[in-house]
Amino acid sequence: MNYKQQVAQALVAIVDGNLTEEEIIAKIEIPKSSEMGDYAFPAFALAKAFRKAPQMIAKDLVEQIDQSQFESVAAVGPYVNFFLNKSAFSQDIIEQVLSNGSKYGASDVGHEGNVPIDMSSPNIAKPISMGHLRSTVIGNSIANILAKINYNPIKINHLGDWGTQFGKLITAYKLWGSEAEVKADPINKLLEYYVRFHKEAEENPELDVEARAWFKKLEDGDEEAIELWTWFRAESLSAFNKIYDMLGVQFDSFKGEAFYNDKMDEVVTMLKDKNLLKESQGAEIVDLEKYDLNPALIQKTDGATLYITRDLAAAIYRKRTYNFVQSLYVVGNEQANHFKQLKAVLKEMGNDWSDDMHHIPFGLITQGGKKLSTRSGRVILLEEVLNDATDLAKKQIQDKNPDLPNAEQVAKDVGVGAVIFHDLKNERMNNFDFVLEEVVRFEGETGPYVQYSNARAQSIIRKAGDVTISESNNELSDPAAWDTIKLLGDFPKIIKRAAKEYEPSVVAKYAIHLSRAFNKYYANSKILVDDDQKLARLALVQSVSVVLTESLSLLGVNAPKEM
Ligand code: ARG
Repeated sequence: MNYKQQVAQALVAIVDGNLTEEEIIAKIEIPKSSEMGDYAFPAFALAKAFRKAPQMIAKDLVEQIDQSQFESVAAVGPYVNFFLNKSAFSQDIIEQVLSNGSKYGASDVGHEGNVPIDMSSPNIAKPISMGHLRSTVIGNSIANILAKINYNPIKINHLGDWGTQFGKLITAYKLWGSEAEVKADPINKLLEYYVRFHKEAEENPELDVEARAWFKKLEDGDEEAIELWTWFRAESLSAFNKIYDMLGVQFDSFKGEAFYNDKMDEVVTMLKDKNLLKESQGAEIVDLEKYDLNPALIQKTDGATLYITRDLAAAIYRKRTYNFVQSLYVVGNEQANHFKQLKAVLKEMGNDWSDDMHHIPFGLITQGGKKLSTRSGRVILLEEVLNDATDLAKKQIQDKNPDLPNAEQVAKDVGVGAVIFHDLKNERMNNFDFVLEEVVRFEGETGPYVQYSNARAQSIIRKAGDVTISESNNELSDPAAWDTIKLLGDFPKIIKRAAKEYEPSVVAKYAIHLSRAFNKYYANSKILVDDDQKLARLALVQSVSVVLTESLSLLGVNAPKEM
């Protein structure tokens, strides 16, 4: 039974047809503190119809209402406050959690519809940036959340493995590079060549001419060009994979920009057939004035294609391959215009499914309030961050629990989990400052705090020893447990909201609230005392652990049982 509906039905019976059940549901509020009730109905809503002061109406309603199914119903000023029956509610929720286990909160909103999620997508021959980290962890969490409501997410790493920069890289390598150097330290060396290219090209425009020629060769399938490109790509990918392993993120596809090289002629032909291409200074563009957007540059003078051309081919490929119900792009907000153009061009081509494509933007990670950038030298190397976070976690664990078995693995779960959690607890559009010591704290709104709360729940269960926690007979009337129980009941709603808003922070904030409520309960109650509610309390503790573990799992964070 849906409890809000129960309240609405009790009211509908006594409002003389002045409000429908839906109207009442829309008006029902949730009081700030559960001391004011679990639901509240504002009697203002009936003031016109009943021609009375809301305070009077509230009193009358309380007198008429069938109170049997509630713990109590009270008029407070112009509000009718409903207090749910704690015993029945706790039994109901705990049973749902324990009988469903990790499937608690699942639903069938998605009907197995395919949802490709374009995520991470770093650029070959460059270090993976904090922006790519955000895309990776946000995309991964959205995939988990969508899967939970029965969509079929497809995680695509649209690698930046094509484009004029490869012409530059090959030129630079041929001039200054060596195989041994690259083998020893691929990403840094390749970046170094690339940076040197840009510096020297400022003085020597010949270099740009040569780079364009090399990219053209690459697009035309020249053997040497392809060989170098393949090698650079493989070296970069293995460096990226190391980071993905640390983060525990897997992909369903690594089809990057290069994959669409032989699929772009078709796009250009389609655009031509639809009379959408216009020549502008030798280049081919699509005019997007009616969308209030700058023209999309599709093909350069020398015939070379662009980022957006490859994205057009990719969007069409994804529609054909997956017949998606939604197609998501988890990419920084600085590319908002690109995705507007992409959708507009597809729409102009007559593809109404472009309405199902959504750019999921996110804000910047800053340091000392300043934007990170390769050029300014303000870079954070992801691998270092994850290692430092793990070291910091290890130190704290050693202080708290020197005999912990598996300490290495737990430190990784906590350190890496802290970095992921910190990223996801912020609404994705917010910029945030990265301070490692803040991220790995065991108190406050952090991943380790949630993990620690779960480990504490697990340790209570271990201490209880040989008991059988059951799904039934868990009528807990203890007011101290009430906030925790209600939060457990909110979980299915939380997941749906997070999915609808593509907002993992909804789940992360929920996990913090649940941890807080549980820690307060634990501090004020003797859970293991031998009385007739002991098993019900343990069932609640177990339920908390199930839901915290699952919340963390939706965020892509592990939940150690002991720490
Ligand atoms: N490689 C690009 C970058 O690092 C991101 C690609 C995003 N995905 C896409 N389909 N455009 O900026």
